[in-house]
Amino acid sequence: MQRSGADRILLGMTTIVRTDRPALTETALQMTSGGRGVLAADESIKTMSARLEAEGIPASDVTRRDYRELLLTADGLSESVSGVILADETFGQELGDGRHFPIAARELGILPGIKVDTGTTPLPGQDGALITEGLDGLGGRLASYADRGAAFAKWRAVFDVGTTTEYVARANAHALARYAALCQEHGIVPIVEPEVLCTGDHPLAASAETTGLALTTVFDELDRAGVDLTGIVLKPNFVTPGLNAPKASAHDIAAATFEVLVDTVPAAVPGIAFLSGGHPTEDVCAFLKELSAVPNRPWNVTFSFGRALVSSALRAWGGDADSIAAAQRELRENCRQAAAAALG
Ligand code: 13P
Repeated sequence: MQRSGADRILLGMTTIVRTDRPALTETALQMTSGGRGVLAADESIKTMSARLEAEGIPASDVTRRDYRELLLTADGLSESVSGVILADETFGQELGDGRHFPIAARELGILPGIKVDTGTTPLPGQDGALITEGLDGLGGRLASYADRGAAFAKWRAVFDVGTTTEYVARANAHALARYAALCQEHGIVPIVEPEVLCTGDHPLAASAETTGLALTTVFDELDRAGVDLTGIVLKPNFVTPGLNAPKASAHDIAAATFEVLVDTVPAAVPGIAFLSGGHPTEDVCAFLKELSAVPNRPWNVTFSFGRALVSSALRAWGGDADSIAAAQRELRENCRQAAAAALG
């Protein structure tokens, strides 16, 4: 596997290749252990703008920045949050005090991460199934993010239970693996996110089947790409019935999720950080709590929620400077609940 110049130490005629893998493992463990988890605040400009407007807040680079600053600077956030995933726009923005977001995050005890995929587009001839884009020029972008302090990155592949064939799984897993290998070359921990969507009315078994196919294919491609599994964080969905189907108990969801993961995720992976996928905060915390109580789990489990942590905070803020403290209280409480769940 190709290594960056920083990994090569020239000693006379001998080249010692110094592995940076322990550092990646260290970061992956830091992100997923001790009950702390990762805050996903990396919505694209389009998605973030829509979420602001849905709360009656005019969307602009300034309001998107103000909102992300409110999240990051919530007092004591680092007690339950180990890392924050930022969007490219936020990564280059400054807080009110002039510090850039990734610098401020580190000073607050939170590792800064960056979403590097550029979104999804239909995969031709595949019934509307999606492929994630963003590999072109990715090496150069990762080098720049690493220079500016990024500790980890994220790439999200999206799978729908109705359209995920082996071909769709392979195409998306291949892209995820190329991204992950490139991240590791730049000393950045890749969050590998194969998300099986929970929209729809499918039963739990359908989610289990698609999640199993996605994860099996992802780990096969990671292996082919030479990715060091001890230096990644996996970000999967919980295995649940569709949001419009009858609910299953947290116990059954944790059991189904563990069954799929233990079959597909090698024990070398240090940590798994779940997405919330549109489930309510209480529900995903209950799933995580049940799962973290499973004995003999080979990996750390924690949260990397977006909506389950921030939706009530955004509503409480409403774009009003007088409501910042109330919004931060909401965020802190949601993170505290998720962190308690991660500890079982
Ligand atoms: P949700 O927790 O809102 O699903 O978002 C997590 C995420 O990062 C999706 O890519």
